[in-house]
Amino acid sequence: MSTFFDDWDDTIIPTAESETPAVATFTSATPAAASEPASGDSLAPVKATDKRVVNGHGDINQLAPFRYPWAWEFFLKANRNHWAPTEINMAQDVQDYHHKLTPAEKHMFENVLAYLTTSDILAMRNIGLAVMEKMTAPELQIYQARQVYEEALHTWTYQHCIETLNLEQEEIYNRYRVVPAIHGKIVLANRRLEKILRSDLDLSNRDTLHEFALSYLFFAGIFEGCWFYNGFSPIFALQRRGLMKGTAEQFQYIMRDEVLHCAFGLRVIRELMREENLTLDPRAVAELWAEADAAEDAYARYILQESILGYSADLHMGQFRFVANRRARQMALEEPFPGAEATLPWLDEQANLRKEKNFFETRITEYQTGGSLEWE
Ligand SMILES: [Fe+2]
Ligand SMILES: [Fe+2]
Repeated sequence: MSTFFDDWDDTIIPTAESETPAVATFTSATPAAASEPASGDSLAPVKATDKRVVNGHGDINQLAPFRYPWAWEFFLKANRNHWAPTEINMAQDVQDYHHKLTPAEKHMFENVLAYLTTSDILAMRNIGLAVMEKMTAPELQIYQARQVYEEALHTWTYQHCIETLNLEQEEIYNRYRVVPAIHGKIVLANRRLEKILRSDLDLSNRDTLHEFALSYLFFAGIFEGCWFYNGFSPIFALQRRGLMKGTAEQFQYIMRDEVLHCAFGLRVIRELMREENLTLDPRAVAELWAEADAAEDAYARYILQESILGYSADLHMGQFRFVANRRARQMALEEPFPGAEATLPWLDEQANLRKEKNFFETRITEYQTGGSLEWE
């Protein structure tokens, strides 16, 4: 049975045998040999088996035959979540922000925006400049090209919110440079990115390949899969009380993209690990989780110095650890936070949208015909 569209459901844990990384320890074993490559300038036809995630020598300009048909399905699916931030009514948010939010809620709201604005630029640079060019199958690159656009769209969305609410633009954008708790998360991500940014990265070197896989895991599984996934929830907590509903609606669209980015990235890494006979060093993975947890905790304590109604730093961190365990299981890795329970049980519904019956009420443009916005 195809699982293409199940990838949308963020709670799905892949169970197919073919998706489980094959080996148990970090290994320097030689990867399985690809079949005889069909280079771009030869007259030999391309075979699907010529393709590899990285280190392939097939014709990168020829889309089909597909080796990774699920990647093409991701691309088609991504194109069903198209919106523009200007289409969403923000009028009530202006009222809410200036007349209803408490100082603690404003502090949280502004700092969430300040973090997200810089984060999405980083996400765009990671996928567009560091990851995409290392792929050697066009169906993988095509989804990633869409992802690059989506990250830019997310940046536009935050900028639109900042402008609409008449926030001090320069101050908000500079906040990550002066607030240590925001800076800490950005520094961590920048460090991972810079390790793999070079275009001459030699992925035939096993240590370099391991670093690349680890970095992609960080961005797909933690940066997008945990920090973004859980990062919108303080705003959703306001939405659940009828506040800042336009901003929250914008973030729901973004979250749908991020669920796909995470699912796609983890799937690419699993394929890469199988093809290259690579297993991640458990100590390096444990360090990844520990760093992410510490940075997220400092951030949560800062943005929620004072709890707001229905939300607190403890709830935020509980959900982070619960989602982190899910990402680990999706990669067949050991759970980093055994026993963590969902502290925000409504968050998955928020991502899923299927239960948000009134979600499209305010939408003024439909890109698709009736019913097609269902994720079935
Ligand atoms: Fe994004
Ligand atoms: Fe993303």
